[in-house]
Amino acid sequence: MTGTAGITIHSYLDGSSLDSMAADVRAGLTRKGLKMLPPKYFYDDRGSELFDQITSLPEYYPTRCERAILNRRAPEIVEITGARELLELGSGMASKTRALLFAMAGAGSLERYLPMDVSELVVERCAEELVEMYPGLRVHGVVGDFEQHLEHVPAAQARLVAFLGGTIGNLYPDERAPFLRDIRGLMGDGGWLVLGTDLVKDPATLEAAYNDSAGVTAEFNRNVLHAINRELDADFDVDAFEHVAFWNELDSWIEMRLRVHGDQQVRIEGADLDIELADGEEIRTEISTKFTRERLEEELAGAGMELETFFTDDEAMFGLSLATLA
Ligand code: SAH
Ligand code: TRP
Repeated sequence: MTGTAGITIHSYLDGSSLDSMAADVRAGLTRKGLKMLPPKYFYDDRGSELFDQITSLPEYYPTRCERAILNRRAPEIVEITGARELLELGSGMASKTRALLFAMAGAGSLERYLPMDVSELVVERCAEELVEMYPGLRVHGVVGDFEQHLEHVPAAQARLVAFLGGTIGNLYPDERAPFLRDIRGLMGDGGWLVLGTDLVKDPATLEAAYNDSAGVTAEFNRNVLHAINRELDADFDVDAFEHVAFWNELDSWIEMRLRVHGDQQVRIEGADLDIELADGEEIRTEISTKFTRERLEEELAGAGMELETFFTDDEAMFGLSLATLA
């Protein structure tokens, strides 16, 4: 909880978060075949800062395209949905969401904003900026994991739920389906979902977006190892890892990996785990799925939703779906 007028913040990250991090790391690094780490651990304070830098890199078109769509379409979205309350998952600094809040304020319907993010820092910062911009706005921040703590989000009727930045593409298909059904539950009767997804396009453009020339994405990727070193008292030699990102056509996703140079023995005290990595071995740290309109329609239908409108930027690089209950 914070003291600023209009802001309440609830955190569901407690003592058990370290246990679940230890369990996730153990499961991912001891699996047979390719080792994996879950992406949510990128976003400590430094990771959130690095992601913010990624969003303004010349190669990283998704943020620019999604912002263009939202700036152009926000009034329409607000009119269609009649939204008075906005719940945003993985809200980050909500820099693009402001177009929606601005349009709601313009329509005289802006009552409450509920940002949910695993990073406490961004939820607090963003709440403070927004109540300053919109006097009278109530911000109910939820610090937690959207894969574990959605049950703590207060229920509402006819709410607009936003899930932007293509973050849904960071979930695996078998995680996405139940997640979309949970979102449907959060919308309430007559509610709406605005879902931002990156679209399939030529591999060169896709790969460049995850291999920027300034090396910020590489730092962001390696940050997951810094986070594990700090939180779980591990001794990864982070500098020995190279950032790898490539288009996986079969699965329709960009895959981020860390490739170790030289054999490396790692002790992860907090997970009571010793692992051995062989020279050249890779750890998958994230996928970023790219969609088509047809696939989105299908997946939304599978979760009991109907695609009402599909907006893209002028070059159809990025898609913004507006969906309602089927
Ligand atoms: N919506 C913003 C940020 C996207 S980056 C944008 O479009 O620019 C992804 C965001 O989701 C980060 O802020 C990260 O902290 C958050 N996030 C990632 N995994 C999460 C999880 N499991 N639960 C809650 N938030 C998560
Ligand atoms: N949601 C973002 C995306 O899929 C996250 C992201 C951008 C990312 N760049 C990254 C994740 C680099 C890992 C590494 O585009």
